[in-house]
Amino acid sequence: MTLDLRRLSYALGAEVCDINVGKPMSESTFGEIHRAFLDHGILLFRDQNITREQHIDFSRRFGELDRHDSLPRDRHPQYPELLMVTNEPKPDGKPGDGKYTGHLWHSDMSFTTVPALGSLLRSISIPPVGGDTMFANMTKAYDALSDVMKKLIADLQGIHVGKRKIVDLTPEREAESKRLNPPIAQPVVRVHPETGRKALYIGEKVECFVGMTTEESKPIIDFLIRHATQPRFTYRHQWRAHDIVIWDNRCTMHAALGDYEDSEPRHLERTTVMGTPSGYVIQGDAFAVST
Ligand SMILES: [Fe+2]
Repeated sequence: MTLDLRRLSYALGAEVCDINVGKPMSESTFGEIHRAFLDHGILLFRDQNITREQHIDFSRRFGELDRHDSLPRDRHPQYPELLMVTNEPKPDGKPGDGKYTGHLWHSDMSFTTVPALGSLLRSISIPPVGGDTMFANMTKAYDALSDVMKKLIADLQGIHVGKRKIVDLTPEREAESKRLNPPIAQPVVRVHPETGRKALYIGEKVECFVGMTTEESKPIIDFLIRHATQPRFTYRHQWRAHDIVIWDNRCTMHAALGDYEDSEPRHLERTTVMGTPSGYVIQGDAFAVST
């Protein structure tokens, strides 16, 4: 068969029409989906009213799934392959941390030494308005840089930190977070292992560059993020219930917008396909040398 694809934006993304990912799928159909995934960076499947098992099974076709050991509080108790993205309040009525999941521009699991190849996010409850997700095409953003800037960043390594807002940050939570997610150095320019194309690998979780001070790094980090998130490189996804959106973390980054009422349920579940190992742990004082 030939997939019925509809492009989502100028910059990236395509909707795959008339496919139910919960049904058995031939190797050749999956091959076409995989090809489209590499070509467009993001794939959208609408109206996928499928079970958790079907979500996991389809995700496995892209590769081995992360069991989310570095984010134990967010995973589903029975399905470690599923990461909960939810604003469901805690039992005591306080807002859950999930309200703040993904608000910074980032690529999934960049703060680990096995950054994600892809993520498959399934929407279950969506507020009537707001809560969209922004995506940026990091290959196009890289290509559009001047040759001098490309040279300047060619060998830089960004230090990624798994930071995010935690509702009740206790010293214990802080210590746990540091233990589970120490700072990780990653190249700022990564070559996509399947397409061979270079892409920017940067985001708001990057604190500074290896060997440079925070003051030296910050203007370059800020410029690269501002550059990559210009409208011409982005797509804004407006969720409907039962969407599945798959993105390639090796050549895109994304940010979840928090513009919706806390009282409106927003619940999504994500599988994470593990990528090739990249980066290394930054030990102690090597991190964020400040003048
Ligand atoms: Fe994310």
